[in-house]
Amino acid sequence: MTRVVGLTGVTKEYAGGVTALREVDLTVEEGELVGIVGPSGSGKSTLLHIVGTLDRPTYGTVEIAGFDVAALSDRELSALRARHVGFVFQAFHLVPGVSARDNVAEGLLYSGMPRAVRRRRADEALARVGLADRAGHRPHELSGGQKQRVAIARAVVGEPDLLLADEPTGALDTASGESVMELLHELSAAGATIAVITHDTEVADRLPRRVRLRDGAVVEDVLGRVPDRVGGNVPGRAHGLVAGGAGADA
Ligand SMILES: Nc1ncnc2c1ncn2[C@@H]1O[C@H](COP(=O)(O)OP(=O)(O)OP(=O)(O)O)[C@@H](O)[C@H]1O
Ligand SMILES: [Mg+2]
Repeated sequence: MTRVVGLTGVTKEYAGGVTALREVDLTVEEGELVGIVGPSGSGKSTLLHIVGTLDRPTYGTVEIAGFDVAALSDRELSALRARHVGFVFQAFHLVPGVSARDNVAEGLLYSGMPRAVRRRRADEALARVGLADRAGHRPHELSGGQKQRVAIARAVVGEPDLLLADEPTGALDTASGESVMELLHELSAAGATIAVITHDTEVADRLPRRVRLRDGAVVEDVLGRVPDRVGGNVPGRAHGLVAGGAGADA
């Protein structure tokens, strides 16, 4: 298996004395769909930013798609991000006044592909997220769920090694949120590697792996689907309980 994410002893201290992450060890293999859960302020977004190389850790090592982040300059990190990581945020972050097609094509800006090719790829990505008939719509002409699908299309159009989503259903009603999660499950089934932050325990329970943070530390890392019909737990392989930074991620 190919390791897409490897964090070892990652600690993040912010100015002002906040320790947002404490000696986090985390491994994500190619094809995994991982939920990051935990209370508000537990460090979920900080973790996602570090995994996505938007931020660097204070201590510890970060390896993404085979690259040691510490060895790269900021410029090299931007290139790594552009080529290997796709981001989806709660608030969509689409460019206003620009068509869905061009919003998605923006995900290929650093690819060196000519504009016509980027647009064709964008149309294909929009078709994959069920929006072939909305390519010409601008963000304000789309529903919330559709905006998030456009954002997901933009994130995956460059076929990144890793898709990171921070509360992608947080701004959506239940039905749109479920369809966005369904889309992530479909992308996962097609081979994408995905880490998704969620507050929603029902959403989290349907994910094949859940990493739980508390006060910046990984306190649980469970593999195995929790059945939503049958009573009782299906025993799953556990990555191991990691408390206070001790323990290993097998
Ligand atoms: N730029 C920053 N400067 C200083 N402290 C920060 C910064 N960003 C986050 N923090 C602090 O780090 C801790 C973790 O924040 P983080 O945003 O990772 O939490 P979270 O788990 O994503 O919470 P939420 O569920 O509310 O989004 C919090 O205590 C927060 O106040
Ligand atoms: Mg957050």
